Order: sequence, then structure tokens, then C-alpha cells
Amino acid sequence: MADRMPRTESFLPAMFEIAREAGALLMHHFHQHLKVEYKGEADLVTAADRASEKLIRERIRERWPGHDVLGEEQGLNDQGSDYRWYVDPLDGTTNFAHGFPVFCVSMALEQRVQGEVRRRIAGVVYDPTRDELFSAELGCGAHLNGEKICVSKTNRLNESLVATGFPSHKRHKNPNIFFYHQITLRTHGVRRAGSAALDLCNVASGRFEGFWEFNLNPWDTAAGVLIVEEAGGQVTRFDGSEFELNSRETLATNGHIHEALIHEFQEIFAGRGLDPLPDPRAFAR
Ligand code: IPD
Ligand code: CA
Ligand code: CA
Repeated sequence: MADRMPRTESFLPAMFEIAREAGALLMHHFHQHLKVEYKGEADLVTAADRASEKLIRERIRERWPGHDVLGEEQGLNDQGSDYRWYVDPLDGTTNFAHGFPVFCVSMALEQRVQGEVRRRIAGVVYDPTRDELFSAELGCGAHLNGEKICVSKTNRLNESLVATGFPSHKRHKNPNIFFYHQITLRTHGVRRAGSAALDLCNVASGRFEGFWEFNLNPWDTAAGVLIVEEAGGQVTRFDGSEFELNSRETLATNGHIHEALIHEFQEIFAGRGLDPLPDPRAFAR
């Protein structure tokens, strides 16, 4: 194929440039009280999401005109390429819209190896509020602002700090609040910071021991999952089976607490050993 490139070429330098440019665009819009539109009851989108995706698509097209792009706001542009980009132009839109400074740009590149077999070969997540650039290339480790990063060595669930997120679609149907409750009681705490891509990077850099979420989309996870794996961590579905971008279940850990979390999830799904929620009416009395 015309757009096939030797694997010796690193895509990262160009990805850094694009992610930084998109991050600067987001910071320009931040605090400007942009009009918020609704894609769903609690699913927000702003002009910054759209402008960032437009910019990233233009930059990809300039450099690699034949590549396919799947972006959250514009969907899939499928030209039959062996290369596909996954773009979340603003991960953490709800935070962004409320002025809460936890959001990022996420970009990953996948290559078709044979038939339908694809592998993710590069990922970049840029947090413009902290100027933190997380990156990974398949087989080359993970980095934060150029320094190598590794997952934490903590191997006890009850000494772990973990993270999760809640979907904006069909929130009322999602059981994650049970998981939040039970895992809170079994760890140092569960954070819900509002950007799945940064949650994954925080696992990769050892700040969190683990992260899980239901129903994430490929653009949320494509870069972060590669960064976790290249930092020595593990990513699977909730039962330990192989993670795929359309799995709708993401469990990422430092590897050491993976089995313990899978066990807890099995127990919660089976309704075994659940700590009951305290009754607020009894508490108020
Ligand atoms: C959201 C964030 C959030 C997660 C949601 C995602 P968006 O992405 O990653 O942390 O809990 O499931 O949809 O909408 O801000 O790009
Ligand atoms: Ca997202
Ligand atoms: Ca987004």
C-alpha cells in the first residue's frame, strides 16, 4: 500500500507536535465559558472538542494523507488504509466545561499486520494543564516528558489507590456504583477524576495501582492502554480475558493487583460478600 511505512520510522515526534498544538488550542478555549451543547442527557460537547479534532485531522492528513482516522466527534474516515488513528480531541469534556483542570488530548496509531490482525504501534496523551506528555511506542517502553515510566510495585489491594469512571450514556443502567462502593472499602480509595486517558496514564506512571471502567470507546483507551502495557502493566476485560478496543470493559493495573481485582469483580458480579450500604435514614436519626 502507498501509505505503508517501514516500522523503523517513529511516528512519535510528529505526534508530540500535533498533541501539543491541540493542547494549546484547548488551553486557549479553557476559561472562556464556551457554550455547552448536549449529545445526550449528560454527554457534553463544546466548540473546543470540535476545533481540536479538526486541527488533529488536518495535521494527520497533511503528513499521512492515506491514513484512516476514527475521531470521537467526526467518526470514521475509512480509506482502506493499513493505518488507523484513534483520536479523542478532548478527553474530560465535562471537567473542561466546568473549569475543572483535568483533561487531555489522546491519539493512537494502529497498523494492520495481516488480514484483520491489527496492533497499536504508538500512543500519545497530552495533559496541557500540567504540560505532561505521556507516550509509548510498541516494544520501546513508555515515557513521560521523555523520562521512562513504570507501573508501581504495590502488590496489595488494600494498599492501592485506584480509579474509575462513570459513563455519560445510560448512567441509570450502569452498575458501577456498586463496584465503586465495594472497591472503596478494599483499597486506599477510588478516584473519579473524569478523564479515562489520563487515568490510564496515571496507572502507567505508578500514581494509581489500577483503573477500571465500563463502556469506554476506542478513542478513550487506544493510547492509554498501549502506554500502560509499555510501562509494564496489564490490561484485560473484567474477567481477565484479552482486552480489545471494542471490549466495553477496561481493567488496567500494575499487574501485581490484577488477579485480586478480577476476584473482587467476580464476587461483586455474583453478589457475594457485598458490604451493605449504610441506611441514610438510620444514619440521620
Ligand atoms: C469521558 C471521560 C470520562 C469517562 C467517560 C468518557 P469525554 O470522555 O474519559 O472520564 O468516565 O466515560 O466518555 O466524553 O470527556 O471524551
Ligand atoms: Ca473520552
Ligand atoms: Ca472527547
